Amino acid sequence: MKRYVHLFLIVLTSSLALLAACKDDKEEEITPNNPNNPQQQQCDTGSVTFSSTVSGIISTNCLACHSAAMAQGGMILDTYARVKTAADNGKLMGVITHAAGFSPMPKGGPKLSDCNIAKIKKWVDDGAPNN
Ligand code: HEC
Repeated sequence: MKRYVHLFLIVLTSSLALLAACKDDKEEEITPNNPNNPQQQQCDTGSVTFSSTVSGIISTNCLACHSAAMAQGGMILDTYARVKTAADNGKLMGVITHAAGFSPMPKGGPKLSDCNIAKIKKWVDDGAPNN
């Protein structure tokens, strides 16, 4: 009898280990390419462009208040040209990094993830190109 209890424990432990392994796999698949996941482990700023990176972050986090229809604070961020203006005059980086003298954005919400801030910074540092 004692032998079976032992066996049962081994089977139980290995199933739990397997389950845990499956769960990890799933998280790895979801995490790396999700630009909005603050738990993201690695941050790839190597292929940042306006169309594939920056506009997506802005539409997810900013357009609810800064579309042409909302235009909160008179700020509209719905086109490349408008985002470029905010990038060039320093307001874009100022508000998302919560720098002194700027109104912290997203207003009333959590700060963008470090990775998303790094990606936008990379694009701004590159001269905010229309790519
Ligand atoms: C919940 C609404 C809301 C969200 C979401 C939001 N903003 Fe704003 N934003 C405002 C308001 C309101 C103002 C006007 C200033 C103030 O009240 O602080 C403003 C002002 C600004 C300004 C002008 C600041 C200045 O000094 O002239 C910029 C730039 C800006 N927001 C960028 C962003 C960016 C980038 C995001 C997304 C990361 C964002 N906002 C998300 C509401 C919002």
